[in-house]
Amino acid sequence: MTLAIYPGSFDPITKGHMDVLQRASKLFDKVIIAVLKNSNKKCFIPLEDRLHLIRECCSHLSNVEIDSFNGLTVDYAKQKNATVLIRGMRAITDFEYEMQMAQMNNTLYSELETVFLTTKPKYNFVSSSIIKEAALLGGDVSRLVPENVYNYLLNLKKETK
Ligand code: PNS
Repeated sequence: MTLAIYPGSFDPITKGHMDVLQRASKLFDKVIIAVLKNSNKKCFIPLEDRLHLIRECCSHLSNVEIDSFNGLTVDYAKQKNATVLIRGMRAITDFEYEMQMAQMNNTLYSELETVFLTTKPKYNFVSSSIIKEAALLGGDVSRLVPENVYNYLLNLKKETK
């Protein structure tokens, strides 16, 4: 059985992430979405809300589990006996950071292989940061995020008015 982890901030999960996840779930026996709890990167959406939104989005994917973790991704992978780490690759701008991370992770834990899945071209420009910025300034991001995330961002916008 091949267990893959798909780590990230998911602040919030987008249709680009969902596209990668759905394809990963067909390639591997089980995929764990692993949401990083404490990072240097300050997250906008509280962890519990991010997890809740992801759970709702993934209810139709029977081999996908949702979890959160602290510390190094490789330590989490070891603890779970995962041998594959999934990352989405959108454009050349992702390449340098992703390659650095994959090589560092493989140096720290050589049993872990990073598998890059390219996102559908229509989601190439989609990032959680650009989604948040557009949504909070009133832009229509309904085509770029799952419906529950869209409604969540609408509510956030109302609350911050
Ligand atoms: O969605 P993101 O923010 O691009 O995900 C980045 C993430 C969480 C995968 C990365 O920051 C990470 O693995 N953090 C955990 C700490 C760690 O293992 N760092 C060493 C990787 S080189």
